[in-house]
Amino acid sequence: MARVVVVSNRVAVPSGDGSARAGGLEVALRSFLKRNHGVWFGWSGRLAAKTDVDTRSVEHAGVTYITTDLTRSDYQEYYNGFANRMLWPILHYRLDLAEFLRRDLTGYLRVNDHFAEQLHNVLKPDDVIWVHDYHLLPLAKALRDRGHQNRIGFFLHVPFPPPEILTALPKHERVILSLCHYDMVGFQTEGDAGNFASYLSEECRMPSRNPRTFIAGQRTVRLGAFPVGVETAEFNRLARRTARSPFVQEVLASLSERAMIIGVDRLDYSKGLGLRMEAFERFLADHPQWRGAVTYLQITPRSRSEIKEYAAMERAISETVGHVNGRFGEASWTPIRYVNRAHSRSALAGLYRSSRAALVTPLRDGMNLVAKEFVAAQDAEDPGVLILSRFAGAAVECQAALLVNPYDPEAVGNAIAQALSMPLEKRCGRHGELVKVLTENDIKFWGERFIEALTRPVGELAAA
Ligand code: G6P
Repeated sequence: MARVVVVSNRVAVPSGDGSARAGGLEVALRSFLKRNHGVWFGWSGRLAAKTDVDTRSVEHAGVTYITTDLTRSDYQEYYNGFANRMLWPILHYRLDLAEFLRRDLTGYLRVNDHFAEQLHNVLKPDDVIWVHDYHLLPLAKALRDRGHQNRIGFFLHVPFPPPEILTALPKHERVILSLCHYDMVGFQTEGDAGNFASYLSEECRMPSRNPRTFIAGQRTVRLGAFPVGVETAEFNRLARRTARSPFVQEVLASLSERAMIIGVDRLDYSKGLGLRMEAFERFLADHPQWRGAVTYLQITPRSRSEIKEYAAMERAISETVGHVNGRFGEASWTPIRYVNRAHSRSALAGLYRSSRAALVTPLRDGMNLVAKEFVAAQDAEDPGVLILSRFAGAAVECQAALLVNPYDPEAVGNAIAQALSMPLEKRCGRHGELVKVLTENDIKFWGERFIEALTRPVGELAAA
């Protein structure tokens, strides 16, 4: 197999504490790269003065990590600006929150150029390049401009909206259409892939060989769905082990036998946290028998706090939590425990296994691996229930979850009551179906599947 070069904004360079914090996807990508002595390239996480920007390389367990610095204005325009104040809201169907600044677009293109320039010094002609996520949409074009004819694939971790939404992005052709410089563009769901196909055919009038193969001038670009999974069996083992850890035992003891409901999300408006708190309030109002008998633990590390929409949401959610706790709480019972600290993957695994239900109710999400890890963590003989937004990519595979509309607090409140009182047999039935799907789509096969599709000769695919 050719050497694979993964490119992403963040790079999970192994380091004492950092590895424990790495999510399942990072762990899986790392072990994929280990198998083929690959390279992982991206931002170092460091901001440097223009004259001080450096690119360094470290080897670790067979993988070469190459990271480059950004300047403060790169960070402001590329990361905070175009990627997170323009692309992120649009890709999550939130036109109301998108803000376009021409300067940010310039910074975004400049950083993509900087990445391409650094890669230019490292790439070999037969390397297979695999670019990740919305920060790097135009990277293939920047590499092609430097003469690279390598196979280059792209995978989008977040949702891809239909053309009516996407075309609200000023100069959308400049950014979105540059995806046609990749050989393969992968999405989390068929729905997302279909939205890109509609954009190419309806908006750009691009000719196609079949619904998933387009002809962009001299190039052929293929689209596909590659839903990200989890390490199903390994995560179950981890959860079994850590459910007995002193940390989880201490959390359980502090609940005094109450049932626990868990939510774990980055603090982000796409996660629907405010509406979720309202749903929990409705649940307590409509199902008084559960008052004092259940605790909802919401773990929400802060994220992108320099962006004003995030700071505003942080305040609003804290207020809602305070309101619900004030309305229903008692001296001996706090209905919602709201924690802004990040927890290690192993601590979360143990907490998932110890919860009666998980609330995963994003307003829009590319996939949502919390949903899948919660399922994987359960005890098959006494599983907890997954309450899942129909607008998460994971809902396509997780049809056996309690699927809810996150915009309807009353319905979500009723789903909480249904989950808590669901008989064992029904819980086992739903859990069994979910585990079957997750086992079939284990993350172990994801990297190979994508690279295999990317490197398959075009003729074979067009005929497929
Ligand atoms: C999402 C994106 C990732 C991103 C992560 C954390 O999952 O798809 O690309 O790394 O959020 O966000 P941050 O801005 O902290 O990298």
